[in-house]
Amino acid sequence: MNMRINVPVELDRLAVANDRIPRPVQGEPAAGASSPHESATLHVTGEAVYTDDIPELRGTVYAALGLSAKAHAHVRGMDLEAVRRAPGVVAVLTARDIPGENNCGPVIHDDPLLADGLVQYVGQPLFMVVARSVDAARRAARLGRIDYEELPHLLTPVQAKEAGSRTLPDMRLVQGDVQAALDAAPRRLKGTFDCGGQEQFYLEGQIAYAIPREKDGMLVWCSTQHPTEMQAVVGHALGWHAHQVQIECRRMGGGFGGKESQSAVFACLASVAAHRLQRPVKLRADRDDDMMITGKRHGFHYEYEVGYDDEGRILGMRLDMTLHSGFSADLSEAVASRAVCHFDNAYYIPAADVRAMCGKTNTQSNTAFRGFGGPQGALLTEVVIERIARELGRDPLDVRQTNFYGIETRNTTPYGQVVEGNLIEPLVAELVASSDYRARRQAVNDFNASSPILKKGLALTPVKFGISFNVPAFNQAGALVHIYRDGSVLVNHGGTEMGQGLNTKVAQVVANTLGLDLDCVRVTATDTYKVANTSATAASTGTDLNGKAAEDAALQLRARLADFAARKYGGKPEDVVFAWRQVNVNGRNIPFGQLADEAYWDRVQLWSDGFYATPGIVWDKATMHGRPFFYFAFGAAVSEVVVDTLTGEWKLLRADILHDVGASINPAIDLGQVEGGYIQGTGWLTTEELWWREDGRLMTHAPSTYKIPAISDCPRDFRVRLFRAQNLKDTVHRSKAVGEPPLLHGISTFNALCDAVAAVGDGRTSPDLRAPATPEAILKAAEGLRRRRAG
Ligand code: MTE
Ligand code: MOS
Repeated sequence: MNMRINVPVELDRLAVANDRIPRPVQGEPAAGASSPHESATLHVTGEAVYTDDIPELRGTVYAALGLSAKAHAHVRGMDLEAVRRAPGVVAVLTARDIPGENNCGPVIHDDPLLADGLVQYVGQPLFMVVARSVDAARRAARLGRIDYEELPHLLTPVQAKEAGSRTLPDMRLVQGDVQAALDAAPRRLKGTFDCGGQEQFYLEGQIAYAIPREKDGMLVWCSTQHPTEMQAVVGHALGWHAHQVQIECRRMGGGFGGKESQSAVFACLASVAAHRLQRPVKLRADRDDDMMITGKRHGFHYEYEVGYDDEGRILGMRLDMTLHSGFSADLSEAVASRAVCHFDNAYYIPAADVRAMCGKTNTQSNTAFRGFGGPQGALLTEVVIERIARELGRDPLDVRQTNFYGIETRNTTPYGQVVEGNLIEPLVAELVASSDYRARRQAVNDFNASSPILKKGLALTPVKFGISFNVPAFNQAGALVHIYRDGSVLVNHGGTEMGQGLNTKVAQVVANTLGLDLDCVRVTATDTYKVANTSATAASTGTDLNGKAAEDAALQLRARLADFAARKYGGKPEDVVFAWRQVNVNGRNIPFGQLADEAYWDRVQLWSDGFYATPGIVWDKATMHGRPFFYFAFGAAVSEVVVDTLTGEWKLLRADILHDVGASINPAIDLGQVEGGYIQGTGWLTTEELWWREDGRLMTHAPSTYKIPAISDCPRDFRVRLFRAQNLKDTVHRSKAVGEPPLLHGISTFNALCDAVAAVGDGRTSPDLRAPATPEAILKAAEGLRRRRAG
């Protein structure tokens, strides 16, 4: 029986094999058990309330947006008469109807809510129509007649680079003397590479429902990862103070980064209309409009030169990255700097010169997406490492292992942070063994030698991902914990629930601290009127930050209750034990609810706030050096594919993933994050293709033309396990963040596809395969190798 007050790290939990995930047992410590997601039943039965499910208030009207048909143009005039006269229309609003600032740019003010005189991409909102039904609003929105004077437009990062078109100043990281390292290197490789962007494809689209409140107040129910930012931008749009605006979000049907800044235009415009009409206004974009309006993952263009030795050890690397920023800055600066801080992935690169340019184009403004530039940074080096291995005729795994960060030496990143708690070598060694990599490599080679058309490919790729926001101030969080007189507990924190299980984990932490079962704790909707000045739920820091803040509140309450119990029943406060829904004090067991009630009558404060700020984060933006991450999460994946080299079609045969989440707070949820991240990363690099027509219109704006992975795309043999370790750093229960790092495992699928296609040639020539590796791209790369082979 475990009667200790606080079990900081349940070492026994670490001994739990993944194939025997413990179910929560009544009275056992709540943290560390695979409790189902707090909304699992509601998700499955359809009872979970998303913003569009909230019962509508009387008088609610519906908004739709009129979008630009041109990529870049002056707007000479807008004839909106037909819109106004359309059936059911209540109002038509343009930029001039915005009482405050017509802008929602999160960092730089270059993001108009409604275009005013200038349109910068096809899909940019120009006007808003409010009608009595969703349908009427949407139909009317198509009736605007816009007089454009077209301007030249740019669509790709390469075009932006050539034109010198940027949304932000360039950034550069220099470590060591790269030119000297390249000159001295026995071998050199130079090349370019491109990867595409990715649509977040949250299942619940963007939506905001704004309700005017008394005395110039506004309540906005909004699907957003960043309620505090929505509060700020709605305030700016209305010319109000923050305290007039309340944002509430119970849950999102997925965010994946796409509801960090991109929910702003919806929250602001719904609020502007609601204030103007003094009626509740709902603005819900349908899938096509959502994809036409909002930003996506940044595509990248890379130019690189690398120097290495005969073993494949990298001696120096020059890298020039151009991001597809889109028409405005949005979060591109932070995305670019995360790319710069992740191009090293798990490898020691002694000399580096890395530049990033945010290329301004006439497209949607690209934004956060799971990994936030990290995947794009790591992808390039994983592609380069495989190219080095082919040049040398070595197994890419050997070249990877040669380059891994060391423990005592070769352990400093190009941006100056020492890689502490480096797990990459033992983790990869375990995966090599458990996946049977060496034997399967031989089997793949044998298969390819005797199979002219079908080719198999295999790749093991590692992941090292830095955890923290690289704006130090964002690494803070707050929480409120209430204990009611019956002993039930209510928790509110600044993070948002988007399916990732944040609320479940926070509830587990609070239950654990107070010795309660999970069903005694309820987490409520995120609400800017409860916890103020919150950070976005992003950078995978949700549990690290809000879990610690909630734990802080719960620890204060536990201390107060222990003091009270010792006063009342004798003994010392530090000997009071909270476990099994009981409080053990001076030899007696008192039910938690009874003690709470007794404490109330003694006027003990039964609610508390909690706060957390991540320690030790330092970042110099100008030199791109410092200690931007509290710690690193590690992992590795082995993917095996088979490719039909006459059609470009392919299939994932098997995936083995070993991933480090420290001491897991909830292994079932963490495994789900790892599986989902891998499949989403695979989608990014294979089937998900964003394609803009020459006039700038995005043609892949619905599931009919944009292909995200389906259940049938998962490997039939899918073996995912958590690595047994605990965080060296004092994180909540010694766990590690898990939201984004597993997305990078998808890189192994891309590398495996390259491996298979390379088998069409002599095996030493790298295929010219870009990402996403669609069947067309695979076919083209295979044809290229075939032609070369034929001479
Ligand atoms: N998992 C689900 N189911 N849905 C999501 O939208 N977003 C990802 C990741 N996992 C996401 C998800 C992204 S982009 C981030 S930053 C983290 O979850 C955010 O949550 P966390 O910080 O609580 O892990
Ligand atoms: Mo995640 S891209 O940091 O929302």
